Formats: sequence, structure tokens, C-alpha cells
Amino acid sequence: MARILTGIQSSGRPHLGNILGAILPGIELSRDPQNESFFFIADLHSLTTLKNGTEREEYVRAVAASWLAFGFDFNKNTFWRQSRVQEHTELAWYLNCFTPFPMLANATSFKEKAEKLSDVNAGLFTYPVLQAADILLYDANIIPVGKDQKQHLEMTKDIASRFNLLAGEEILVLPEPRIDERIMTIPGIDGQKMSKSYNNYIDIFLPENELKKVIKKIVSDSKQLEEPKDPEQDITFKLYSLVASDTDIAAMRQNYLNGGYGYGHAKQALLECMLEKFAEPRRIFNYYMENNDELESILIQGEAKARAIAQTTIEKVRKVLGFSS
Ligand code: ADP
Ligand code: TRP
Repeated sequence: MARILTGIQSSGRPHLGNILGAILPGIELSRDPQNESFFFIADLHSLTTLKNGTEREEYVRAVAASWLAFGFDFNKNTFWRQSRVQEHTELAWYLNCFTPFPMLANATSFKEKAEKLSDVNAGLFTYPVLQAADILLYDANIIPVGKDQKQHLEMTKDIASRFNLLAGEEILVLPEPRIDERIMTIPGIDGQKMSKSYNNYIDIFLPENELKKVIKKIVSDSKQLEEPKDPEQDITFKLYSLVASDTDIAAMRQNYLNGGYGYGHAKQALLECMLEKFAEPRRIFNYYMENNDELESILIQGEAKARAIAQTTIEKVRKVLGFSS
């Protein structure tokens, strides 16, 4: 049985890119009876960039509600908030002391963030060590992540090996990333990669009138209604292709090629398709966002399961390092 583990930062409400690129593939893996899944909300990681506590609480709930909205089975699997299992921070400290400074200084994601952000804090620098702790605490075997996380997984293995070398045995299990090359990069409303940081995302849980406004903003060329259009070059068509049925995609493609079909028509079709396809997830998402107590009790149940495993690992680590009672 493989242990699958992944985390999503609570740095915003999950958008269409996060849902198609991370949440749905994660849920798919978790349905395999051969797998045991550990999915958590990386709220400590979100502190590297987001300082406002009220916003963090809302985003934690939104991330949790999104997993549940798409059918994540929290009874079969383990689902928790990273900050509520203190072993994450404890192990991160120990592992910091097994992490060579140049390894962190060379991390691509740190260098990229450091160029963009005004607040380049030490948390941002040691971010990969906390991520290593997240993974190693649970003896996880497979880590489904985006391509950008490959280097963090290599660091995790490197740090674990250094610790195991000292311990003289395999206390920490070396994980493998699972990078699904089939998962495409979902474009945002401006055609760049959809991302919170580019403010070009589609939040599928917005009320209908707000969702409509966002969809209206999708960038297009200036072709007139009657002119034929190239579907492959158009962002609205690309997004439609990600959510609509094959028949509907073929029909829209033909409309583009024929002409007499405007971008406004395509955007209206995209809105209707999203409302229909995501009707049930939207309902469940809103339900959990309004029923905080229920969401909280699901997370607390997961935290107890996660903590029990984390404590077993931390005890072994403390023993090796001379910190056990
Ligand atoms: P953001 O860029 O909006 O901050 P994150 O870096 O928090 O998103 O990504 C969380 C997860 O969602 C990662 O697994 C990432 O690979 C996936 N993801 C984010 N944006 C996209 C996208 N545009 N297309 C596909 N997957 C995405
Ligand atoms: N760094 C990951 C991201 O930005 C989130 C994350 C934190 C994570 N801890 C993890 C992913 C452990 C996988 C395993 O997407």
C-alpha cells in the first residue's frame, strides 16, 4: 500500500487552476483502494507571504471546503491543518540543522520569490525544510505535486538521507514525487499561467453575477462578430475545452470557424457550462463555508489521526538526537 501525501497552501481561495491541476488529480489518486492518502492545508507555509490572520482563517476554510466540494473522502483518508500538528514545526527545526545553507540558497523557487517579493523573510528561505518535515513525518511514499516542486522533493530526500546517515538506519522514509506530465498548465484570463500571484484567476465558487464579470474580462482579439475566428488561439475557447463535453467543444469550434459567432457568445457559453458542471461542488463549498462547526469537526478528526502518526516519527527522531525524555 502506497502512502500518498500532498499539501496546498492557504494563501487564497482555490481557483480553477488549483482545482484542475491539484485537487481533482489528488482526489483521483485517493480513490485507489491501494492508496492511503494524507492531504493537508499548508497554513504555516502561507505565513511566509500572508500575514493577516483573519484572511488566513478564511482561506484555510476555503481550501478545506474545496477538497470536500469535489468529493474528498475524509473518513477513508487523513485531512488536517498543518499548524494544528505541532510536530511539523518541531521536525522542521531538527531538519534545519541537517540542511546545508547552499542547498537553500540555490533553491529556484526561493530565488524567484526573492526577486518578486518585498518581504524576503527567513521563513521563505527555510520553506523547503518545513515541506520536508511535512512529508517525512508521515513516512509518505508518493508526493503528487506540480513541476515547480521537483527541487523541493530532491531536497527532502537529501535531508532525510543526511539524517538517516547519522542515525545509522532508515528512520525517515525517502519519498518520490509524482509529477503528472499530462496535467496541463491552466491559462488565466490573460493567457498567462493562472495564478493567485498574477491576479488572472477564475474563482469558480463566486456568486453567478461575479463569476460572469470575471469571465467577461477574458482577453480576446478584436475580430468582429461576423468574422471567422481561430479557436486554438483564443483563451475563452481554451478554458471551455477544459470544462465542456466533447460534443459541445466540437460545436463551439465550428461556430468559431464559421463566423457570425462573437466572443461574447463564447463567454456566455463558458459561464453556463461552469455553472452546470460545478453546480454540486458550488453547493457543497457554500454549505461548508456557512457551516463552520461541521468543517471544524472534520478537520479536528483528521488532526487527531495525523498527530498520532506524527508523534511516532518524532519520538524516533528525538531518540536519535538525544531529546527523548
Ligand atoms: P498559485 O500559482 O495560484 O499560487 P499554488 O502555487 O498555490 O498556486 O499551487 C497549488 C497547486 O495548484 C500546485 O499543485 C500547482 O501545481 C497547482 N496549480 C496552480 N496553478 C495551476 C495552473 N495554472 N495550472 C495547473 N495547475 C496549477
Ligand atoms: N510547497 C507546496 C506548493 O506550494 C505546498 C506544500 C507544502 C507541499 N508542504 C508540502 C506539497 C508537502 C507536497 C508535500 O504547492
